[in-house]
Amino acid sequence: MIIAVDGPAASGKGTIARALARHYGLPHLDTGLLYRAVAATVLRDELDPAQEADAVAATSFDDLLLADEWLRSDEVGKAASVVSAHPLVRSALLQRQKRFAAQPNGAILDGRDIGTVIAPDADAKLFVKATPMIRARRRHAELQKIGSTVSLDRVLSDIRARDDRDSTRAQAPLVAAPDAAVLDTSFLSIESAILKAIQLVETQL
Ligand code: C5P
Repeated sequence: MIIAVDGPAASGKGTIARALARHYGLPHLDTGLLYRAVAATVLRDELDPAQEADAVAATSFDDLLLADEWLRSDEVGKAASVVSAHPLVRSALLQRQKRFAAQPNGAILDGRDIGTVIAPDADAKLFVKATPMIRARRRHAELQKIGSTVSLDRVLSDIRARDDRDSTRAQAPLVAAPDAAVLDTSFLSIESAILKAIQLVETQL
């Protein structure tokens, strides 16, 4: 069984994908981490995320990097949305994601293009969304917890900029697959969102 979970930043897709993985006992891949690892390698080597050749060179990143907490920072997230717009970066990461999806018992992948490009034949597809303001409030609360003093306005404008970059790029833009079930988490608690996600998966099996 392959489950595809897509959606924008701070929509809740990661939390939902992890909960589904536990529920169904399936391996889970957060594909955003791959793009973040490319971005982190580019930044570490003081290269330019906007240069396709620099970003492609970083697709042979060291796997140990995938466990680095810095990968989850907004700095790396922003650069990830720049490197991920390069077609050659996307094609360099394609096989790795498809291999993960092809495991014997199945898998759950979350990202932006799982239901459209990586696993178009997935058994169940979810597109998780929430309003930009609500996603900004969630991200802002997370950042405050780790001591950041960034303003809510700033987080909101970063979220809008990232949505815009991810949705307007030519290759594999952030868009719901036509056969995906849409889950709006704007007014749901985490627990209710997870229950709703399981229901939506069950109706597709
Ligand atoms: O989900 P996360 O915020 O970790 O993703 C970081 C960036 O990686 C996204 O803004 C997006 O540009 C890119 N990404 C992508 N395709 C995926 C997963 C992430 O383009 N499947």
